Amino acid sequence: VQLAQEFSKLLQTCPTPQKEATQKEFEGFEKLFGRFINESGPSVEWDKIQRLPDGAVRKYSELQQPETSAIKDMLNKLVVVKLNGGLGTSMGCQGPKSIIPVRSDLTFLDLTVQQIEHLNKTYGSSVPLVLMNSFNTDEDTQKVVRKYQGFQVKIFTFNQSRYPRINKESLMPIAKTAGVESDLEAWYPPGHGDFYLAFKNSGLLDIFLNQGKEYAFISNIDNLGATVDLGILNFLLGGDNSNKFGFLMEVTDKTRADVKGGTLIQYEDKLRLLEIAQVPKEHVDDFKSVKTFKIFNTNNLWIKLNAANDILNEGTIDMEVIINHKHLDNGLNIIQLEQAVGAAIKSFNGAHGINVPRSRFLPVKKTDDLLLVMSNLYRLQQGSLVMSPLRMFETTPLVKLGPNHFGRVKEFLRRFASIPDIMELDHLTVSGDVTFGKGVSLKGTVIIIANHGDRIDIPTGAILENKIVSGNLRI
Ligand code: UTP
Repeated sequence: VQLAQEFSKLLQTCPTPQKEATQKEFEGFEKLFGRFINESGPSVEWDKIQRLPDGAVRKYSELQQPETSAIKDMLNKLVVVKLNGGLGTSMGCQGPKSIIPVRSDLTFLDLTVQQIEHLNKTYGSSVPLVLMNSFNTDEDTQKVVRKYQGFQVKIFTFNQSRYPRINKESLMPIAKTAGVESDLEAWYPPGHGDFYLAFKNSGLLDIFLNQGKEYAFISNIDNLGATVDLGILNFLLGGDNSNKFGFLMEVTDKTRADVKGGTLIQYEDKLRLLEIAQVPKEHVDDFKSVKTFKIFNTNNLWIKLNAANDILNEGTIDMEVIINHKHLDNGLNIIQLEQAVGAAIKSFNGAHGINVPRSRFLPVKKTDDLLLVMSNLYRLQQGSLVMSPLRMFETTPLVKLGPNHFGRVKEFLRRFASIPDIMELDHLTVSGDVTFGKGVSLKGTVIIIANHGDRIDIPTGAILENKIVSGNLRI
């Protein structure tokens, strides 16, 4: 009741043209908040986790490529959606993450557009690109999207919701006014689980269904491995399978570096996404184990549009509430309630996983990842990054760059005169004030540590193979 009163006060501060949309968002938020207040205890009882049934997670190697003559029709049933609500702050950038240049001066968005345009040109198809923006990214994205006008890709955008952050103690919104101009710190985009409702509310879901589109391929814009896969599309649309699969989640084998990613479990006879936040404390080690839970969610998802529409209309779509605690710069402790797009898997009939190669998961979260994708380890082919055939191992090197000196993209770029040759690199750790000259080659395990007050300049053309460089000590 108190929250409703607070909302009606906030609504009065909202400019008239924004009132209706804001009210709708408040309703969505109230539902989420109601669940947060009423649900107690962990959403998963550990002992009720069942063994994954045979066939629940399909093998990628068993997929068949479609006949060339069938590809155009299949592609015309597809919509590509990129989750574009996030900012580039974790890499020290302002504005949407998708407009950071990642390879040959091309941004995540440029690469995505190139990939889809290439498909459309090659097969004469009309696969549209849909961007789910947030209030944080929409304005800048709109400016950039204009430059793709002459491309053979139709681009659509819609905005996800803007929910109020709530004070951890009082559980009341911290916002004083509600218009889009109001204090940005007081609002947040409620996670990519917002996709379903926001897509429906935008009218786009109905438009695409009317056009005969059948599946959406949804992925994080920062996953450079998330390209349209014709084998998967053929699996969903071709032969006997047609219409069977409501939801297909791409998972991949877990390594020790991925222990925090969500995994697929069988629970109450349905597939479910299990995130670390839902795991009871005493089972966190089990959850992280590479042996017990062998796969994790890449967030590349294939969703049947009419199935999504049905569960939205029935109101049966259900995703766990994720409670995100934050400490704001102004000293306030707040919580924001979020949902993950993959968590809706349990609401779909015919939900499956598919175990895809690691190459379909190439996220750029830190400058460590940026070093890999900018390097000679990859080649750019029509907007897709493909591992160079000259790399002898299937795995990518483990790179750890010191966050203080390399964490921000600008600093990172300043410290490399050119990106080193890392074709034969296994492991790189760099810490402190280090710079790299042009044409450096790194092989095997290389560790470079400049102590506080020291600076290490790796000279142009240097070849470092299985070397530790630290202070004045060179081994
Ligand atoms: P994040 O970078 O925040 O998440 O967003 P993550 O660390 O990969 O972990 P998961 O996937 O959330 O478990 C992933 C993608 O989702 C978008 C971001 O722009 C990014 O492409 N995103 C995130 C939204 O579009 N809206 C949101 O509210 C949150």
